[in-house]
Amino acid sequence: ARTVTRNADGAAVVGGLDVRHLAEEFGTPAYILDEADFRARCRAWKEAFGTGADVFYAGKAFLSRAVVRWLQEEGMNLDVCSAGELAVALSGGMPADRIALHGNNKSTEEIERAVGEGVGRIVLDSFEEIVRVAHIARKLGRRQPVQIRVTVGVEAHTHEFIATAHEDQKFGLALSGGVAAEAVRRVLKLDSLELIGIHSHIGSQIFDTSGFEVAAHRVVDLLKEIRDEHGIELPEIDLGGGLGIAYTADDDPREPREIAKSLREIVSRECAAARLTEPRLSVEPGRAIVGPTAFTLYEAGTIKRLDGLRTYVSVDGGMSDNIRTALYDAEYSVALVSRTSDAEPMLARVVGKHCESGDIVVKDAFLPADLAPGDLLAVPATGAYCRSMASNYNHALRPPVVAVRDGEAKVIVRRETEDDLLRLDVG
Ligand code: LLP
Repeated sequence: ARTVTRNADGAAVVGGLDVRHLAEEFGTPAYILDEADFRARCRAWKEAFGTGADVFYAGKAFLSRAVVRWLQEEGMNLDVCSAGELAVALSGGMPADRIALHGNNKSTEEIERAVGEGVGRIVLDSFEEIVRVAHIARKLGRRQPVQIRVTVGVEAHTHEFIATAHEDQKFGLALSGGVAAEAVRRVLKLDSLELIGIHSHIGSQIFDTSGFEVAAHRVVDLLKEIRDEHGIELPEIDLGGGLGIAYTADDDPREPREIAKSLREIVSRECAAARLTEPRLSVEPGRAIVGPTAFTLYEAGTIKRLDGLRTYVSVDGGMSDNIRTALYDAEYSVALVSRTSDAEPMLARVVGKHCESGDIVVKDAFLPADLAPGDLLAVPATGAYCRSMASNYNHALRPPVVAVRDGEAKVIVRRETEDDLLRLDVG
């Protein structure tokens, strides 16, 4: 795991580098990503699930060509959910057969590109899409491996916006009411589709593994029904992503090996009981791999002390580089990293520089009372869904991602410039 230490004069050191030097060289705000930690997490997932399984990194959490190279070197597969992510995956050199394409409204162009490149699987999300993918595969003279995404009826205990396996939602085909079974029938009739498995994703930032366990049971039940009805045994199941990470000290996440153990046991046991050949298992963690590997480095600016209330500490970024607090009420922590301080702690709210009062990065935090403009602050666990959900609100320039490893720092996504912004403005 990532180790942030302090050097003799109190500045934080990550990947062998003093954060003050990182700020000087790359500016702030910046996402600082620990490559060794990223690779270690990939290995932990691979080891936890073993050779009988595949781990697909969910690119939506954060994707760049360097990340694609690391994934490839670590023997990972990659889940993409748009033409843009697919383009980065291919351009980073990920072999197409290790890529899965997701999405509830894939465009014709996206499907054509994916089928044409020979992606390892397309995860079908609707009846219409079954027909569309089959048609495109036939036209391109391919037999496209597909999985069917089902909703298993589990409410993952997480924020409403990111829970996806209950049935009143836009993703997947319901197990209940025979919807998924009908999708299986239709796919099996189409020569240009090769049904390789069933997919389930129950939500995100989940701490309680029982939701995954119920999903595993129900997916294996469907495999049984398919065997009984069609006389075939599907070779794969994918149980999605969603494992939560620690954003603050109160969070107590599960380890990949815990979830791997329970899922493998359930699948083995249920399959043995039903005399099914055990399918190859895959999972799609995004946040749990990249989330903890990065922090955002900000410089403190305006500090407004509201008597009897709290202190508003403004940083040089905000909701444009981390929308999660505003969008999901997400909780983060923050630390002073350019020095140590013996001052009393003060109740602070870390806010951005955008033109609205909901522009909050860390809602409640204690920071030393002598905090001053120019101090560097780090917000940990911003590797997932921060750069990938960053915006240009107020024409902010999206921050760079700087990978650190063994005392060396390398920009893997550069900071945007005003030229980048103006390039799109062609009026
Ligand atoms: N597989 C599928 C089909 C997914 O939809 C997702 C996430 C994942 C895998 C990866 O889930 P993870 O392991 O990263 O939880 N923007 C939200 C999260 C949205 C997740 C969407 N799907 C956030 O910032 O919390």
